[in-house]
Amino acid sequence: MQRLYRKRIVLGVGGGIAAYKSAELVRRLRDHGAEVRVVMTQGGREFITPLTLQALSGHPVHLDLLDPAAEAAMGHIELARWADLVLIAPATADLMARLAQGVANDLLTTVVLATNAPVALAPAMNQAMWADLATQANREQLLARGIRLFGPGSGSQACGDIGMGRMLEAEELARAAADCFETGMLTGKHLLITAGPTQENIDPVRYITNHSSGKMGFALAEAAAEAGARVTLVTGPVFLPTPDRVQRIDVVSARDMLAACEAAMPCDILIAAAAVADYRPEVVAPHKLKKDPSTGDGLLLQMVRNPDILATLAGRADRPFCVGFAAETENLLEYAARKLRDKNLDLIVANDVANPSIGFNSEDNAVSVIDRQQHETRFGQASKGHIARALVAFIAERYKES
Ligand code: PMT
Repeated sequence: MQRLYRKRIVLGVGGGIAAYKSAELVRRLRDHGAEVRVVMTQGGREFITPLTLQALSGHPVHLDLLDPAAEAAMGHIELARWADLVLIAPATADLMARLAQGVANDLLTTVVLATNAPVALAPAMNQAMWADLATQANREQLLARGIRLFGPGSGSQACGDIGMGRMLEAEELARAAADCFETGMLTGKHLLITAGPTQENIDPVRYITNHSSGKMGFALAEAAAEAGARVTLVTGPVFLPTPDRVQRIDVVSARDMLAACEAAMPCDILIAAAAVADYRPEVVAPHKLKKDPSTGDGLLLQMVRNPDILATLAGRADRPFCVGFAAETENLLEYAARKLRDKNLDLIVANDVANPSIGFNSEDNAVSVIDRQQHETRFGQASKGHIARALVAFIAERYKES
């Protein structure tokens, strides 16, 4: 089940007897490649020890909202931003009620309010408590707010009753969690995505490049595949695993990247996240350049313009819906809007790379998307996986409207 591979799951454990199944759930999620951080309520700790879940998840368990040491390590806002999914299993009747009311009186409920990630609950309670009108009203409210419910199932219960209210088994929950990453928004569409840096050779041992790690482009490819698209990812030299169900083409220089993109056409949507070198040395020396005393301390390299991949593809007769990125260190929105016009794009993603916590080689990003009407849509700081999923959803909407 590759859909959980590298997904970041905050597992909330509430205070119910089904908490013992959470231990197995942590194992299943990790077996499927997910990273798991556990948050326990006070009640959860009465049923299963934090030490068990720490050993199984490989990370300290998060317990208290007002613990300065824990907040200094990974505070509630960081946890909320880190998550690709918040899964609460077991979700007791009390937890459901608090979440339905937006109460944030412990760490878990606070994380739920603070996160932009999807939230899913695995209810677990006595059948009469599940059937109670108050719980059913809370269920309706939670569903109306986009919170997903996995189960409950029906059968014999720990208290001896028989009926609805059993928490689903760990493997069923892992599968339901994986389904959260499958949207189908781009089913039947071909997306071409560029990622990473390019390298432009000076001689056989030296080259010109930039700080792009490929993380943003790879996250977009993964999100597009989750949305059901056929994805071709053309990438410069990076050290990242290929996302599941993505066709990866490795290239080195800007000219290689253009050739690979042209070979991959036609496509429905092009997302150009690569940081392509605008210039390359006019001549690549056949042998390693030696220090030349006649030129003193300097070395002059004559550079020539590289082809603009995005502008080239946006100028074709079979032009796809074109989304560019603009990495800027100043006048972000103005320069991005200019690139949108000059390259004939549908959307441009403005990326402030002057801030080291977002942009090149960072885990997080924060971007603004500008459209042809100069309308700006902001995506606040979150993991690149998160930003990628939000961008893919946004792009899919705009593509359908075009
Ligand atoms: O890879 P990461 O470490 O995760 O970092 C992500 C990122 C900062 C590289 C990425 O989010 C980003 O902003 N990529 C674009 C970087 C850039 O160099 O932009 P630009 O302003 O030079 O180019 C504008 C657009 O034209 C980009 O879509 C670029 O891919 C495209 N372009 C540029 C030059 C060229 N010769 N061909 C192109 O296709």
